[in-house]
Amino acid sequence: MIPFSPPRIDQKIIDEVTLALTSGWITTGPKTKLFERKLEAYTNARRVFCCNANANGLELFMRWLGVGPGDEVIIPAYTYCATANIVIHLGATPVMVDVREDFTIDPEKVEAAITAKTKAIVPVDLGGLPADYPALWAIVNRNKTQFSPTSEAQKALGRIALVTDAAHSVGAMINGEKLGNQADAMVFSFHAVKNLTTAEGGAVCLNLPKTIDCDEVYTWLNTRSLHGQSKDALAKTQAGGWEYDVVEAGWKCNMTDLQAAIGLVELERYDADTMIKRQVVAEAYQNAFSQQKWALCPVLTDKVRTTSYHLYLLRIRGIDRPKRDAIIQSIFDGGVSVNVHYKPLPLMTAYKSRGYKMDDYPVSKMLWESEISLPIFYDITEEQIQKVISVVTSAVVSHL
Ligand SMILES: Cc1ncc(COP(=O)(O)O)c(C=O)c1O
Repeated sequence: MIPFSPPRIDQKIIDEVTLALTSGWITTGPKTKLFERKLEAYTNARRVFCCNANANGLELFMRWLGVGPGDEVIIPAYTYCATANIVIHLGATPVMVDVREDFTIDPEKVEAAITAKTKAIVPVDLGGLPADYPALWAIVNRNKTQFSPTSEAQKALGRIALVTDAAHSVGAMINGEKLGNQADAMVFSFHAVKNLTTAEGGAVCLNLPKTIDCDEVYTWLNTRSLHGQSKDALAKTQAGGWEYDVVEAGWKCNMTDLQAAIGLVELERYDADTMIKRQVVAEAYQNAFSQQKWALCPVLTDKVRTTSYHLYLLRIRGIDRPKRDAIIQSIFDGGVSVNVHYKPLPLMTAYKSRGYKMDDYPVSKMLWESEISLPIFYDITEEQIQKVISVVTSAVVSHL
């Protein structure tokens, strides 16, 4: 069976993790701090804070922003559950809107959903394709007058925050620039299936306006990721440094140096190796399927955007859900693992029971019913790529 997205674990990763294991320091420490510095250089973000997951990074940033009960946060209906869950954890309301046919949040739908309670817009760079940032910024700036801040951070910002769920988009580009500094905060995921992994992990790229001190925001996030302690474990080991305060009942979601050791290797070879391989795989699929009348191929690049090639989101023209599922079964029977990204949130019990209805998001419904994600991973061979193409083609043709 050709797997869907196994991580690339080679000797280099094993050696670096072994070094970290034997260094005498395995939790948050010098490797995590170095990884943050390297991510700052890579993304051009003002400051980067690493933690144990994208979801916790997004949630902590929203806590810094002071989002809470009575507030609304606009998210796409077509995303992974984490984007909505973090809003619910804060006691705020996720306001779901539909997406465009390229799978990214529809700016027109975003603007129509803004109310005086809106505190943040959370686009998702789905599959690695950047959302429409110029349109989203224009919306944020056009809607300053009805913004009504309820926290010090919101007052300092003076407008709705743009906070990206960038779980898929490390290395994607917009207008020739790497993603990481196109929103107030952009939060990557380094989960095991992601392009750049630390097994589990996340990074919050901070790009708040110059009037807000990103170093202070970094310290706020860092402290809250360590139970609210004023010092991390490494600082406490320094001579005479044992005493600390707890400034607020915090959370525990720090990145360890073992995770950062993996991330440092992954980042070092990301552009020159990982991304090139992912591009080769995606382009092989694109070349093969763009010649088929039944295929609707994903946007990999357009005039301003280039994907990170995280997912290859193939759609089959004119099929419904039962046919899509039958095609998937045939693909599995042919020895290829595929996936669906995503079953939209209004179809999931947790959100359906809160009143979200699939019929309110017709583009999301149409996308998901016809979508099949194909395998992309570093170690996939040319032979396996050709097998994916032929198995998918026969499976589709046999069901049309
Ligand atoms: C779009 C999206 N958002 C958020 C997440 C959550 O990432 P993490 O597991 O790092 O919290 C994922 C993970 O799959 C995702 O795909």
